Amino acid sequence: MSQDRPVLQQLQGPSSTRILGVGSYQPERIVTNDELSETMDTNDKWIRDRVGIIERRFAAKDELLVDMAVKAGANALADAGVDPSEVDTVIVPNCTMPSGIPNAAAQVADRIGITAPGAFDLNAACAGFCYGLGVASDLIRAGSAGKVLVIGAEKLTDSVDPTDRGNAIIFADGAGAALVGASDTPGIGPVTWGSAGDLVDSIYMRDHKYIYQEGQSVFRWATTQIAPIALRALELAGLEPSDVDVLIPHQANLRIVEAIAKKLRAKGAREDMVVADDIRYSGNTSSASIPLALDHMRQAGTAKSGDVVLAVGFGAGLSYAGQAFICP
Ligand SMILES: CC(C)(COP(=O)(O)OP(=O)(O)OC[C@H]1O[C@@H](n2cnc3c(N)ncnc32)[C@H](O)[C@@H]1OP(=O)(O)O)[C@@H](O)C(=O)NCCC(=O)NCCS
Repeated sequence: MSQDRPVLQQLQGPSSTRILGVGSYQPERIVTNDELSETMDTNDKWIRDRVGIIERRFAAKDELLVDMAVKAGANALADAGVDPSEVDTVIVPNCTMPSGIPNAAAQVADRIGITAPGAFDLNAACAGFCYGLGVASDLIRAGSAGKVLVIGAEKLTDSVDPTDRGNAIIFADGAGAALVGASDTPGIGPVTWGSAGDLVDSIYMRDHKYIYQEGQSVFRWATTQIAPIALRALELAGLEPSDVDVLIPHQANLRIVEAIAKKLRAKGAREDMVVADDIRYSGNTSSASIPLALDHMRQAGTAKSGDVVLAVGFGAGLSYAGQAFICP
């Protein structure tokens, strides 16, 4: 190669990032287990015992994924005290946007008042938020973005057969968001992510319409394969299990959450580690479940500013991702 060939300039961002603010939104309508048992063969006791859900929120017919994402995203900006004009990138992890085009991110950004941002959806199903947080942090560290709004949002009720008791009792609607920006000290650890595409048939959209899942295989996979991912996220961040103040696994099933916590405690996580159980009142909201739980736990005071939080998402794909971060 001759010596006078042009050399491309490379960008370099700040070395550290953190979550600047968190926000969430849930639809008004509360759906109890008793209400579901009016239309399908199930009951409150079975759902509480097997899944841990007490109630969940269903969006109205005319309330869209995009509407919920706008509210959660705006709440995260308000929490951070950041004006929309300062945001340059919007990522909307989701798996229930009804059409391939347009994506959710560009219209959500526009409605929040963010002008001409980089805007894209990200589909890693229930692992989506942790994937999005990892991408946001690395975009900033690479110099490609300044402030990134990550909004996990789902309207799962459109993708569930309301008479299928295996799924209709689990899935729900909502949105949760985090604003990510530069930091003087490391506030978001490296993401660890991966997939098991050979198990793709265990959760998928049957006939492009309704979610189908082999409940027991997913349960077995999640309770055996996810704790090691969480431990790997800690290792990458240079942390020990005993450093974790708050554990937020994807809220798929309370028994899965408890199994992951038990495995981490067997490796040295503290007994007083707070474990998210937001599924009890929110159901499984896929990409939204982790930021929804984080926002609710901050409001309840169970996750405090400065706490070390360990998040791990997992679901269809099969896909998984996790990272440690500091609670804003
Ligand atoms: C879906 C899930 C709740 C089903 O629970 P399960 O304990 O595996 O239930 P099974 O399908 O084995 O059924 C057990 C019994 O409960 C009954 N049952 C199943 N669903 C029921 C319901 N909604 N209400 C009442 N009874 C139910 C079954 O008929 C069966 O009865 P039987 O023993 O008399 O035959 C559970 O497998 C699960 O949570 N899996 C993980 C799913 C998940 O997290 N997916 C999302 C990943 S992102």
